[in-house]
This record gives sequence, C-alpha cells and structure tokens, in this order.
Amino acid sequence: MTARIIDGEAIAAEIRVSLKREVEKLLLSGKSRPGLAAVLVGDDPASHTYVRLKRKASAEVGIESVAQELAADSSQEQIENLVHELNADPTIHGILVQLPLPQGIDEEAVLGAISIEKDVDGFHPLNIGKLAMKGREPLFVPATPAGCITLLKSAGATLQGANAVVVGRSNIVGMPAALLLVRENATVTICHSRTKDLQSVCRNADILIAAIGRAEMIRGDWIKPGAFVIDVGTNRVDDASKERGYRLVGDVAFDEAIEVAQAITPVPGGVGPMTIAGLLRNTLQSAQRLQGYMGEAML
Ligand code: GUN
Repeated sequence: MTARIIDGEAIAAEIRVSLKREVEKLLLSGKSRPGLAAVLVGDDPASHTYVRLKRKASAEVGIESVAQELAADSSQEQIENLVHELNADPTIHGILVQLPLPQGIDEEAVLGAISIEKDVDGFHPLNIGKLAMKGREPLFVPATPAGCITLLKSAGATLQGANAVVVGRSNIVGMPAALLLVRENATVTICHSRTKDLQSVCRNADILIAAIGRAEMIRGDWIKPGAFVIDVGTNRVDDASKERGYRLVGDVAFDEAIEVAQAITPVPGGVGPMTIAGLLRNTLQSAQRLQGYMGEAML
C-alpha cells in the first residue's frame, strides 16, 4: 500500500481563506481589527523565523500583529511587565510568547502572567488544566496539537476507539495532543525516552503522532499497516546538495512509512502550516469573544 499524503498546506490555506472572510465580517460589524502581540526574547534564529512567518500569515488574513522584541539579557520582571502591559492593551486580543525563553527565565511564571482570555497559544496552566479535565472547556487549545486532530479528521481517520500512540510528552505538542485524542475517545498511549520497546508500542498504533524532535527515528517497520501517521518533527539534517546546506526531515522515515501507512503528513507541508493557521484562528476567536461578537464555527 502507498499512503495518501495529507496536504497540510492546502488545508491550512482553506482555513486562512475562511479566517480572512470572518475578519472582514467582524470589521463590517463595526468591531476592531484583531490584534496579535508576538513577544520574542533574545536572538534565537529559529524563533525569529517562526515569529516572522506568524506575522506574515497574520497580515494575509487581516490580523494586525506587533512584534515585541526584548534583549536576551532581559530580566524576569521586564518580560512579565511587558506581558502585563499587553494584557491591559485593548487593541491586543492575543499574546504569544515565543518559546524557548533564554536560560534563567522562569517560563511557567511568564506563561502564567498572560491573561487567560488572550492566551492564544493555549499554554497558560489554566487552559491546559481545563483541557485535561472532563466537562471543562479551555478558552484556547494549543495550535499544533489541534492541527494534528484536524489533519487526522480530514484524512478520514476514525478516532473513537482507535489505538492512538503519541511519541513525545512535551507541554507544547505531545501532552496536549494526547489530551485532545482522549477527548475524541481514542485509547491513548504516551511514549517517551524511557518507554520500553517503543517499536512494538508504535506497531500497535492505528494513529501515530510523532513529536520527539529526532530525525527519522520512527522507521517504516514500526508502523502498523494502514495506520494514520502525523509527523510533527521538523529536523535539520546536513545536505551539501542544498543551497542552504541542510534539508528538513520529520521524526518519521517518510520514504519507508509511505509504503506501510494509510495516510501520512509530509515534512515540510504537513503539520507546520496548521500551527500558524491555528494560532490565527485562536486570535480571531479571541477578538470576537473580547468584543462580544458571535462568529461562525470554524474548522
Ligand atoms: N515554540 C515552539 N513551538 C511554539 C509555539 O507553538 N508557540 C510558541 N509561542 N513558541 C513555540
């Protein structure tokens, strides 16, 4: 069997079109343009790239974005003060603090300082806590895990009752992805560096989400025939044939997995575009909620 490739870029593009339309409707109703603040501390090149891409995509759908850049040696207090200012700014409906923060900064305190009503990354402990609880609804769901679920559904996967395996337990992807799968009534196993016989656990997965950050660690023979595979990894591997000297690969050995799986996301062009679309959707929904506007349900 050769797997279907799940085209995250195409699905994200559809979401952006509907977001743009919803932003226009919001403005026509007399409300303010959605505003997103991106807080960037230090000069990590990858973080700068991500924030640039997020701001570019915001502009495309009509969301006003502001970059708030702080020096790498900023104090805890300076960062938290900036967050407090943004919490109080009525033109800002969403605040994202790009991670990782520089060494020595208390990430938990910074994320906890964000108003839960503007927590468009969904990383505030109250939003994550509600995600983990039955009968509670977080105001925001983290964009990357939400994108994984959207991609699975769009590929036709049945989540209810499925054996779902999440490899990786990060706060940003693995853990919230597992919580979302539980909400979809999947039977979920969370794997990590201490998991015994990871290959056998993966081989039992009807749904496999790989979010470990290890280039092509998951091989084709770890995958159950007919499984749905979502590859969250974005790893650089040296490649002299490329102008920039590297290429991007996922956590799954794509060329092997495509021979076994039923459907699989590529890297790049799978989960990555969904992350940005999810952030924009959360920002629009926040602007709608904070301004008392009832929007339409979106993907
Ligand atoms: N670092 C890696 N992924 C993310 C993300 O989704 N949001 C933020 N703010 N930082 C990140």
